Amino acid sequence: MPAQPLRPFRPFARPRPTHRAAILAAGALLSLSALVGCGGGGGGGTVVGPTTTPEQAALARVQLGERLFNDRNLSGSGRMSCATCHDPAFAHGPSNALPVQVGGAFETEFGLRAAPSLRYLDLVPAFSRGDGSLASLRGGLMSDGRAASLEAQARLPFLNPLEMDNGSVAVLAGKLRRAAYAPLFVQVFGETADDELKLTQATQALAAFQRESAQFHPFDSKYDRVLQSQAQLTPPEQRGLQLFRDPAKGNCMSCHDIVTQSSVQPRFTNFGYAVLGVPRNPDLPANRDPAYFDQGLCGPQRQDLATPAVCGAFRTPNLRNVARRPVFFHNGRFNSLMTVLEFYNTRDSDPGRWYPTVNGVVQRFDDLPVAVRGNVNVQAPFGSATPRMTAAELGDLLCFLETLSDGYQPGTPPREGCRP
Ligand code: HEC
Ligand code: HEC
Repeated sequence: MPAQPLRPFRPFARPRPTHRAAILAAGALLSLSALVGCGGGGGGGTVVGPTTTPEQAALARVQLGERLFNDRNLSGSGRMSCATCHDPAFAHGPSNALPVQVGGAFETEFGLRAAPSLRYLDLVPAFSRGDGSLASLRGGLMSDGRAASLEAQARLPFLNPLEMDNGSVAVLAGKLRRAAYAPLFVQVFGETADDELKLTQATQALAAFQRESAQFHPFDSKYDRVLQSQAQLTPPEQRGLQLFRDPAKGNCMSCHDIVTQSSVQPRFTNFGYAVLGVPRNPDLPANRDPAYFDQGLCGPQRQDLATPAVCGAFRTPNLRNVARRPVFFHNGRFNSLMTVLEFYNTRDSDPGRWYPTVNGVVQRFDDLPVAVRGNVNVQAPFGSATPRMTAAELGDLLCFLETLSDGYQPGTPPREGCRP
């Protein structure tokens, strides 16, 4: 395949100031600034002290996490923060349609997977194997579940040479000690000369920010309002929801779980794994090597599960905010949500539309080695010689997915095509 460069890298806009976490209520902020204020003179402050309430300590940790999340100095290039790839203005997902983001100390390296949204990850359970079968695997962070927790995950981008590329733990710890928020860091965790511990503390603050800040789980989509009886789906949205649930049509719900215990808002994932056979993405730099296959659970990034039966499986993502994503699937193969729906609907009835044809033979599931192509899921919406849904039905399904975007303003009509 031609070694065509990706679209040129455009320097990212400065991360926008994020709306303050709802938990940082005005009163709490006052006491927090009193708490951190005394450490302002160069990091000599005391650890969150006896007069500090647990709430204040938790707030300080979240606030520190937010500073770390937005600090572009914590990268080899000095230009990349967590927010560069997980932009708060794009539901903490990528702000551009590149299949993978550009990183590394000299911004010359390409990632291996599309950057996910970081919203609503709080309930992702730790990775578990069940009885070892593909259907029983659950949880873990990263699309192959290789990171056990948000804390463990946060270490990875800092040191990944394709991402923030800080070079070494010592270099990173030095930056943390010299940062403008170093006093806050010391207030929260105390002083330490141990670089490993310093990094662990940073990952704890980052995890606290992602877990506890309401920015990451606002639950204010139209669909949430509908569940609270404060809004109503329009007929097209309602039909889309039916298709999403119908086991003979979309059957989306069998993986993107919607059934909820009354106290838990739906996450649109069962946290399980499936092999969809997404077409190979020729725009992904790693794919210039024809022998490179990203097989999810069985590597090459994940190294401990090389059972052939799980090859090609990725964790089922949450579908909240999916209508705002510029890029879809682990390999960033598609750039429009309607194309994703068409792929689900016609992968098996019209494979020539999705996979290349070589010598008259359609190369189905071309992003997997031939030996594991049999792992691909063939339940509905797949596995049918004729599409299960009409074009109009896909339109309705799209209308429903658009109700899952955060920040719904009550009374706002849906776009044309989704109105009654
Ligand atoms: C260069 C872009 C880039 C940067 C910078 C970056 N990430 Fe990511 N992030 C990704 C990609 C790509 C993935 C998906 C990796 C995978 O599935 O293997 C990811 C995955 C994650 C996940 C797991 C999401 C899930 O659904 O399991 C979390 C959490 C996360 N990143 C947090 C962070 C934090 C915290 C930082 C800063 C310390 C950060 N990221 C910096 C690109 C980036
Ligand atoms: C067999 C389980 C399964 C079924 C059924 C299923 N999905 Fe998925 N879905 C997944 C998995 C696994 C992924 C991630 C695949 C990957 O990245 O390679 C995914 C990814 C997606 C994505 C891309 C999200 C992103 O962040 O890139 C969308 C959109 C989506 N599914 C919507 C749907 C809709 C709509 C339906 C019903 C028509 C559906 N899915 C049915 C398992 C399923």
